[in-house]
Amino acid sequence: MPVRLCVFDAYGTLFDVAAAARAAANEPGAEGWSARWPALSEHWRRKQLEYTWLRAVAGAHVDFWQVTQDALDWALEAEGLGDPLLRQRLLDLYHELAAFPEVPEVLSALKGQGMELAILSNGAPAMLKAAAASAGIAPLLDAVLSVEDVGVFKPHRAVYDMVGARFGTAPGEVAFISSNGWDACAAAAYGFRAIWVNRAGAPMDRLHGRPAHVLADLGALPGLLAGG
Ligand code: LAC
Repeated sequence: MPVRLCVFDAYGTLFDVAAAARAAANEPGAEGWSARWPALSEHWRRKQLEYTWLRAVAGAHVDFWQVTQDALDWALEAEGLGDPLLRQRLLDLYHELAAFPEVPEVLSALKGQGMELAILSNGAPAMLKAAAASAGIAPLLDAVLSVEDVGVFKPHRAVYDMVGARFGTAPGEVAFISSNGWDACAAAAYGFRAIWVNRAGAPMDRLHGRPAHVLADLGALPGLLAGG
């Protein structure tokens, strides 16, 4: 079944989750903590994901903006950073997170191949709208789907069901692209043609489902999907 729709995860796949801490660490006044930005960023992302999984299992949903703040508070405390202005600056940067450099060109190339394009993300609608607009990719997207419409985080099947509900596609007509290995595995188990963008060179997750393809970044995606 030829692929006619590309669905992208947002955070870590299109938008660089390390960009907020990296940018804040390079601003004047950050000298006291700037060397620790990678640890801060790592704690922030790890806790953010853990909280999504735990809240999904517990049936205790709050939106991803709340989860992002809760995870940041944990990360700042872990790193001994209590400055409220730093907290606010990091959140402002996260709200308009930078896209990876190859993203606009890759999305344009896929559009030129006749693909429909969408985001399917844990992100709250306002976050996704702000990040897509600041990256200049909003006009290329046919839909920005947020888990807020189903009230549970990935990898719950209800999230992947949103794609067929919106586009009328069978899972086999959908390429699902994520840099999160667990998301790519779950999407493969769901029946999507899953493509794992293994930016970090991590081992394959041992989970239900295995992605059909593994790429180092998004650059090779138009070529991979050109054959249908
Ligand atoms: C998302 C998270 C998983 O965008 O990165 O859904």
